[in-house]
Amino acid sequence: MNLLITNIHQLLNVRTESKLLRGEELSQLPVIRNAFLVVENGLIKEYGEMSSIGHLPSAMPVYDAQGATVLPTWCDSHTHLVFAASRETEFVDKIKGLSYAEIAAKGGGILNSATVLNATTEDTLFEQAWQRLQELMKLGTGAIEIKSGYGLTVAGELKMLRVIKRLKEISPIPVKASFLGAHTYPLEFKENHTGYINLVIDEMLPKIAAEKLADYIDVFCEDGFFSPDETTTICRAGISYGLRPKIHANQLRASGGTQAGVALGALSVDHLETMDEDAILALAGSATIGTLLPTAAFFLRMPFQPARVLLDKGCAIALASDYNPGSSPSGNMNLVVAMSCIQMKLLPEEAINAATLNGAYAMDLGEVLGSITPGKIANLIFTKPIPSVAYLPYAFGSNLVEKVMINGVFI
Ligand code: NIG
Ligand code: FE
Repeated sequence: MNLLITNIHQLLNVRTESKLLRGEELSQLPVIRNAFLVVENGLIKEYGEMSSIGHLPSAMPVYDAQGATVLPTWCDSHTHLVFAASRETEFVDKIKGLSYAEIAAKGGGILNSATVLNATTEDTLFEQAWQRLQELMKLGTGAIEIKSGYGLTVAGELKMLRVIKRLKEISPIPVKASFLGAHTYPLEFKENHTGYINLVIDEMLPKIAAEKLADYIDVFCEDGFFSPDETTTICRAGISYGLRPKIHANQLRASGGTQAGVALGALSVDHLETMDEDAILALAGSATIGTLLPTAAFFLRMPFQPARVLLDKGCAIALASDYNPGSSPSGNMNLVVAMSCIQMKLLPEEAINAATLNGAYAMDLGEVLGSITPGKIANLIFTKPIPSVAYLPYAFGSNLVEKVMINGVFI
């Protein structure tokens, strides 16, 4: 099936070749004004200026974009999309003054989500998550990573990962799965960390590997959760099963998570609200992507990630939503992009690159998604008429996504 899309006001992130963008490269967002685009069998075939359309066969079906701006769909490389219940009670506790760590210490937070998840059936979890995923696709998300980590038991973690596997099967967009058994210690292992780590490594991992349920291994590396040494032990076990680390690091404290991730050859270290000099230098000198989660910083009233410093030092950064019931109950990547500009001072071009191409690389999808490149999957956002690229993050409260195309078909 062919489709010729005409009258595109601006075609964003057009690249003949794609690669992970670091430092200053992130500010270059190649654009074609007044463009056409041809989609064939779900893939991007060719593009150019409207004035050069003459060579195309006249029989091709045409869709008139009527001045929409067209860009690659968002690649959301860090979410906890599978969860059993919202946690707005804790949200109110936080308004009244409790911290994230205090709520967690009371048995709230991740443990609260784990209790409810273990009591919820796989089918219900799947239905809830599938609804959420469809909503996100309408908001322009065209690839997503989803973590386990609300099971914290062998059965619970397997249940979550089987839900993610079902999402992979049904979803028209690529889904990647991360095993986050080491999200926190369940109450019965509060005083027996080694016991829980052994459960993760000896009981959960072999089963997950045997059923091919995960692409990555994740650990919440944080004071009061998993230390850098524990993170290293768990990730090495994951690596031995072919799971590359993508870890939670430097969210609440600078406790060495980034350095541990870099030393492990992690695909990404995610969060990075609390970066010290050492962590920044470790990331800058590595192939690891720093994934920034501004809506989590916003929701927890944490300092925003030091995006400008990271870029000045030459890091490769991506943007993701961290969609989860505790620290970012929104998977809206349009908001993530806006917030990164407003609060982290990313330029609109940088933010779009970080949320598309670099996000794709943070899921090993950089060769198939994240830019307007011949041969890549035609997952595209069509905006309402907007005057400029900067208008997207500027008008942060409006939904500017008019239509979304997935695999060459409007959803
Ligand atoms: O990425 N920080 C650890 N995990 C999640 C939050 C999980 C939760 O509160 O349910 C995060 O912010
Ligand atoms: Fe997270």
